[in-house]
Amino acid sequence: MADDAGSSNSNRKPLRSSHWFGTHDKDGFIHRSWMRNQGLPDHVFDGRPVIGICQTFSELTPCNAHFRKLAEHVKRGVWEMGGFPLEFPVFSTGETNLRPTAMLYRNLAAMDVEEAIRANPIDGVILLTGCDKTTPALLMGAASCDIPALVVSGGPMLNGRYQDRTIGSGTSVWQFDADVKAGVMSLQQFMEAEQAQSRSAGHCMTMGTASTMNSMAEALGTSLTGCAAIPAVDARRYVIAHMSGRRIVEMVHEDLRISKILTRENFLNAVRVNGAIGGSTNAVIHLLALAGRTGTDFTLKDWDEYGRDVPTLVDLMPSGRFLMEDFYYAGGIPAVTRALGENGMLFKDAPTVTGKSMWENVQNAANWNPEVIRPWDNALVKQGGITVLKGNLAPDGAVLKPSAATPELMQHRGRAVVFESIEHYKARVDDPDLDIDETCVMVLKNCGPKGYPGMAEVGNMALPQKVLKKGVRDMVRISDARMSGTAYGTVVLHTAPEAAAGGPLALVQDGDIIELDVAGRRLHLDVSDAELAERRKRWSPPEPAMKGGYQELYVRHVMQADKGADLDFLVGCRGHAVPRDSH
Ligand code: FES
Repeated sequence: MADDAGSSNSNRKPLRSSHWFGTHDKDGFIHRSWMRNQGLPDHVFDGRPVIGICQTFSELTPCNAHFRKLAEHVKRGVWEMGGFPLEFPVFSTGETNLRPTAMLYRNLAAMDVEEAIRANPIDGVILLTGCDKTTPALLMGAASCDIPALVVSGGPMLNGRYQDRTIGSGTSVWQFDADVKAGVMSLQQFMEAEQAQSRSAGHCMTMGTASTMNSMAEALGTSLTGCAAIPAVDARRYVIAHMSGRRIVEMVHEDLRISKILTRENFLNAVRVNGAIGGSTNAVIHLLALAGRTGTDFTLKDWDEYGRDVPTLVDLMPSGRFLMEDFYYAGGIPAVTRALGENGMLFKDAPTVTGKSMWENVQNAANWNPEVIRPWDNALVKQGGITVLKGNLAPDGAVLKPSAATPELMQHRGRAVVFESIEHYKARVDDPDLDIDETCVMVLKNCGPKGYPGMAEVGNMALPQKVLKKGVRDMVRISDARMSGTAYGTVVLHTAPEAAAGGPLALVQDGDIIELDVAGRRLHLDVSDAELAERRKRWSPPEPAMKGGYQELYVRHVMQADKGADLDFLVGCRGHAVPRDSH
C-alpha cells in the first residue's frame, strides 16, 4: 500500500521516472528545470510515482469533450496518495467527424499512446477513454508498454428524449432515416429529433461500441468496479475518477502492470459480459487486437465457444428498449457480472486493478431493476453471444450479432444483389430498376481493412426504399465492413479475408445464391469451385484510395479482421525500458 501524501519515498525501489528526475547532474537539471516553469515545488521530484494521464480530450471528439474536468479529479486522487500527476495529449479518435473512418486511426492512436508513455518519465498511467476507438487504442498502446494502467471512462450521455419517447444515440438515427425514406416521418421531425438526442456531455448512451468497450474495460479488470455505466454528468463519475487516481499510485508500488491483468481468463470473461449486455460486434476486433499486443492466447474461435450459451440479460438499445442511464441505476456491469458468476459463466479468480479478484469485486452487486437487467430465466435473447460463421464465403470467419438480428432471417437462402463498393451501393440501391426484394441478400464489397481503407461501419447498409415502403425493416446483408455498435439487423460482418485482399467475397456476382445458417455457423456461396476459379482469374485488387503517407503504411501492414485489424509490426509488447537520453 502507498503512503499518504508528504511521506518519504526514499526507501523504495527507483522508479522509471527517477531516470529523468532523480539524478543530480546536467541531465537531471534539464529534466527538472523546465518542468519547474509550471510552478512545481522541489518535493514532487523526490522519487514519488509519476502518473501520466493519457488525455483524449478534443473538441472534435464531442464524446470526450468534458475530459479536462475528469482529469482534474484524477489528479486529486493522485496527489492525495503521494503521486505526481502529469496530463499528456494523444491522438483523439472521434467517431462522428473522422473520415474516412475513425477505425483507420485506432492503430495510429495506439502507436502514439505507446510511444508517448515509453518516451516520457511515466511510472503508471490513467487511460481516459470514451468514444469508440479511444478505449481500444489506449489499452493497446499501454499493453505494448506494459506499465501499471487503469482505465477511467468518461461515461455515457443522459437518455435522449424526443416528444414523448426516449431516443438512443445512433440506434434512433437508423430508425428515423428508414422512417423518412419510407415516408412515415417528415424531414422537419427528423431535424427536431437531432436536437433532442445528445443533450449532455458523454458518449453514446445506447449499448453501442463506446458503452461496450468501456464495459469491456471493466470486464477485463482494467477499471474500477462499476465505472463503465455511470453517466458522464453524474457526480459519481468524478468520484470514481478521484478513486482511480488514488489506486494507480498504489498499483505502481505493487508493480501491478497491465500484463498481469490481461489474462486469458479476463478476455473470456469479457466475451461473456459482451454476450450478456448485447454488446457491439466491434468488441470482437478490438479485443483480438488487444490480445495480440499482450500475446494472450485468445482467438476468434473463443468468441463463439465461450459466448455461445450466454443469454443477453441487458435490455438496452440496439437489442432492446433501455439506455445506459437506466442501466447504471439498475446496477450496471457489476450486477451483470454477478449473474454470470452465479450461473457458472465467470472465471471468478480473474485479477483486476482493484487488487482483488473479479468475484470479490462483484459478489454483492445488486440488480435494482429486473426489467433493465433481466433475470437469467427470462433473458432478452437466450443465446446472445457473437456468432462466428465460416464457409466458402468466409474461410477465416465472419460475425453476426443474434440479439440484433431478426430470428426468421437467421436461416436464409437468397439471391445475391452485389455492390462493388460503397459508392456503387449509394448509386444503385434506390434505382427503381434494381431487381431486388426482401428475400434477396445484399452483398457489399471492398469495405474491409484494406479496401475502404479502415473497415468502415457501413455493413448495416440501409435497405432499398422500395423494400422499406412495403414496411420491411430487415434483410440479410453481408460485407467485409463493420457496423456501428448502435446498429441492428441480420447483418453478417467482418468477412475474412476481405474482398480487397482477394477473399471469396470479391468473386460474388448478382444472382448467386447465398445460404446463411446461423445455428449451423455456416455462410455458403452456392457456386462451384471451378466457376470461382474462373472468376478469380479475371479479378484484380482495387486501386488504393491514397498513395503515400499513413494510409499507404496502413494498407500495406493492416491484418485481417480475424486478427483484430492491427498493423502487423505493432503486434506484441515492446516493454517500458527507459530509452537513452539525448542531452
Ligand atoms: Fe462517440 Fe458514439 S460517437 S461514442
